[in-house]
Amino acid sequence: MKINFIDLQAQYQEYKTEIDREVLEVFASAQFIGGEKLISLEKNLATYTGSKHAIGCSSGTDALLLALMALDVGAGDEVITTPFTFISTAEVIALLGAKSVFVDIDEDSYNIDPTKIESRITDRTKAIMPVSLYGQCADMDAINEIAAKHNLPVIEDACQSFGALYRGKKSCNLSTIGCTSFFPSKPLGAYGDGGALFTNDDELAAKIRMLLNHGQNERYKHKLIGINGRLDAVQAAILGVKLKHFDKEVKLRDEIGSRYSDILENTAVITPKIAQGSTSVYAQYSVRVQDREAMIAKLAEQGIPTAVHYPVPLHLQEAFLYLGYSEGDFPISELVSKQIMSLPMSAYLSEAEQDFIVRAIKG
Ligand SMILES: Cc1ncc(COP(=O)(O)O)c(C=O)c1O
Repeated sequence: MKINFIDLQAQYQEYKTEIDREVLEVFASAQFIGGEKLISLEKNLATYTGSKHAIGCSSGTDALLLALMALDVGAGDEVITTPFTFISTAEVIALLGAKSVFVDIDEDSYNIDPTKIESRITDRTKAIMPVSLYGQCADMDAINEIAAKHNLPVIEDACQSFGALYRGKKSCNLSTIGCTSFFPSKPLGAYGDGGALFTNDDELAAKIRMLLNHGQNERYKHKLIGINGRLDAVQAAILGVKLKHFDKEVKLRDEIGSRYSDILENTAVITPKIAQGSTSVYAQYSVRVQDREAMIAKLAEQGIPTAVHYPVPLHLQEAFLYLGYSEGDFPISELVSKQIMSLPMSAYLSEAEQDFIVRAIKG
């Protein structure tokens, strides 16, 4: 049986007529940057999340960078975040000359442990940036409470959690600014790079819009140092089609993720724990195993692709050695990064494929 890690071809076949029509409309209009498709997508993203403002941008990484820029994070500032994430989260902090202050994760959710945040706040702390990893939101109420006490903004790195619910509210609309990614393999994926920022703050929204367009409101009148961080119209058009079908996909992902957990019960793997009041969009369906390399090899023998998100926590990455952290500083992140592995996951994974994967795991 040939199994895809993520079945993007099946998804394209499902929406082909609509996607082709929308993309051809962009080609015919020659409005490749901005325009109606982007305006309409932003309106629909705002409605979907309940945020006052949704702003399309060039990638999840740029969304995080723009969020920090909008909050004036710069040289000498500290940003509290998790070491158990994709590099972008801390990369953008470093790019602005600020310093990542890492806080270990909770062993159940793999998200930042709110009980460990407060002791790391200093007078240089400029923001808290939790990550909603694998599709489940960080414990945003607890984080927002600490932030409010210290008058700090919170940026949710929701690059993996667009569509997830946290206590009745949508991911991306749970903090000062929410940032997501539309990388093709994400739950809501474009056909290239893309991302979005979400906020309920009018001033921040206006500033972000300026920053992503070279700091200008009016052509060639640059008020701020910005970037080229725009989302193009072709991606906006494709995302507009996929957003219409997104709730159905989220439901399927939830069913497939839950079914994985059911049929993997009482096996050697530790399945994801979804907190009460939360849902996961399973950007990754990630399990923990004692001997990961053996499990990966066993599945590979049967043609089952897997991936590791993420094998090295950020504090142990060569690029971040200058921060001065060492092995043992964040024991839970280190443990999980040695054991975690992701199984094939998409809204198009069939029960037969899932049974085949689980049989291989048990075998
Ligand atoms: C947690 C996290 N943060 C940031 C990013 C960056 O998003 P992008 O690849 O769209 O730049 C990703 C996506 O890979 C991610 O998973």
